[in-house]
Amino acid sequence: MDPEVLKKAPLFAGLEDEAASALSAAMGTLKLNRGQVLFHEGDAEDRLYVVVSGKIKLGRSGSAGRENLLAVLGPGQMFGELSVFDPGPRSTTATAVTACELRTLEHEELTGWLTGRPEVVLGLLGQLAARLRRANDVVADLVFSDVPGRVAKALLDLAKRFGDTRDDGVHVHHDLTQEELAQLVGASRETVNKALADFATRGWIRLEPRSVTLIDVERVERRAR
Ligand code: CMP
Repeated sequence: MDPEVLKKAPLFAGLEDEAASALSAAMGTLKLNRGQVLFHEGDAEDRLYVVVSGKIKLGRSGSAGRENLLAVLGPGQMFGELSVFDPGPRSTTATAVTACELRTLEHEELTGWLTGRPEVVLGLLGQLAARLRRANDVVADLVFSDVPGRVAKALLDLAKRFGDTRDDGVHVHHDLTQEELAQLVGASRETVNKALADFATRGWIRLEPRSVTLIDVERVERRAR
């Protein structure tokens, strides 16, 4: 267990060390291999998960086998709360992008913590509010932004979580294939690749397999607006 990573999770927000240790002790541990599916959209299962290490992608499938990625989560991030608060099938499929270690919390355990600890309730409400905000932004971008704008936004979002600032720029080891990046942006692989190649030609980014370096963050930010 890595308590520092766990403490970043909204579930632990505002908890004193002792309560955080007790909550952590009530959680199970789960390891996934790269590519392993944790649950499918539509499954009936209501555990809550916190990512300790690795990356998890949350996706939905549309008609004709098309996939859309709603989010890629990393250490300290949590998922699976919708089925807890709004009992029903899983709203996305969760797949390990890399080898992952997760902590799990059973529904009944969580309910016990929610009744006794307003700070845990507030942490979870904070996450729900942040997800709704982000989902609204994504919808607005799909309507108002062009694909290069959405690509720029996706790169900045990945950089925020997985970026490592060095002398030559922000290295973002996202671990995603070009197809997955396109699914995250919500456009075809060809259009997304064209936008990425254009950014690279302009010297804003450097492309590497499953990673990207943001050389000129300001220009990427401007393109995202
Ligand atoms: P649940 O529906 O139980 O299982 C799938 C989980 O994916 C869901 O809970 C949320 O935790 C997470 N999820 C669903 N939609 C989004 C989204 N738009 N952004 C981030 N996470 C999401």
